[in-house]
Amino acid sequence: MMNIGIIGVGRIGKIHLSNCLSHFRQVNVSAVMNPSIGGQEYAQAMGVPIVTSDAGEIFENPEIAAVLICSATDSHAEYVEAAARAGKAIFCEKPMDLSLDRVRQTLEIVKESQVPLMLAFNQRFDPNFADVRQHIQSGLIGDIRSLHIISRDPGPPPISYIKKSGGMLMDMTIHDFDMARFQMGCEVTQVYAQGANVVSPEIAKAGDIDFATVLLTFENGATALIENCREAAYGYDQRLEVFGSKGMIRTENPLKTTNCFSGQQGTQSARNLDFFMDRYAESYRLELKAFFDALQHHEVMPATGEDGLKAMEIAEAAYRSMQENKPITL
Ligand SMILES: NC(=O)c1ccc[n+]([C@@H]2O[C@H](COP(=O)([O-])OP(=O)(O)OC[C@H]3O[C@@H](n4cnc5c(N)ncnc54)[C@H](O)[C@@H]3O)[C@@H](O)[C@H]2O)c1
Repeated sequence: MMNIGIIGVGRIGKIHLSNCLSHFRQVNVSAVMNPSIGGQEYAQAMGVPIVTSDAGEIFENPEIAAVLICSATDSHAEYVEAAARAGKAIFCEKPMDLSLDRVRQTLEIVKESQVPLMLAFNQRFDPNFADVRQHIQSGLIGDIRSLHIISRDPGPPPISYIKKSGGMLMDMTIHDFDMARFQMGCEVTQVYAQGANVVSPEIAKAGDIDFATVLLTFENGATALIENCREAAYGYDQRLEVFGSKGMIRTENPLKTTNCFSGQQGTQSARNLDFFMDRYAESYRLELKAFFDALQHHEVMPATGEDGLKAMEIAEAAYRSMQENKPITL
């Protein structure tokens, strides 16, 4: 039995807490920390024995072997460092911080402390995307020529979230930067990005974009084209397509039902899933399974702090490219 603590019980923390309680018999959530009453009441209702507003109660508890850090982004680095110094294994939500220097410094502390750390790039564990990677790795697609990633949210988050998010490229596109590296299996050499405001003047006023197109060039000469939007009238849209010398593979969006209605006007299928909570539900379970399995078998984590840093370096280059209106070499 492994005792764990969870820090931050908002949208994503609730998903991880409830998955830990219902899917992992070898895991015991002994403590939850959340500064506000909402998250605390949720953890109490789920039967967590220690519910606190003091993260020290988790770090100083010798019974706790691992910590899931699911709090607001600007608190991740501090908690990762405290967990590393306390010798706990770490699962940290993305991104680890908004400053590359801070992430590098935090990763040094993790390295010195020799604790395992997994960065929560959950989309790597989506069965469709994982299957695409297997097709690429088995050689079925041949030499990869291009990758297209489409990621459109159903609607924008609150402005309060936008203001703390680090901007669309660091908050949303960061998943796609990681996905592009994950699928391509090599590093990005050049980034060209364009951003716009097509959804909300409020987002523009907050200094962020709500639409982005990013072109990545990889070491192997292949390109990845990423398109992001904070709004899609038809629901959450998450797809990708890989084109290679031997073939092509494309993922479709899972829909609310597999039913097709045919009538006088034609044939209609169901709507897309609502948002990340339902679209990626399985990937959230599978990423925790990968974390706990890697801990149990002393294996390398399937998404590391360095992967998080690489995605941030691409995001930073994309911001520079947008500002300077030219491709940036990495
Ligand atoms: N991997 C994914 O698909 C995914 C999805 C959503 C969010 N996230 C990431 O998860 C993190 C949380 O996002 P969210 O959507 O759950 O936000 P949220 O605002 O819903 O929840 C954040 C929670 O953290 C708590 N919190 C705030 N400051 C804290 C602090 N200093 N110490 C401890 N707890 C604190 C808040 O009280 C709240 O309960 C963000 O870093 C975000 O980027 C990842």
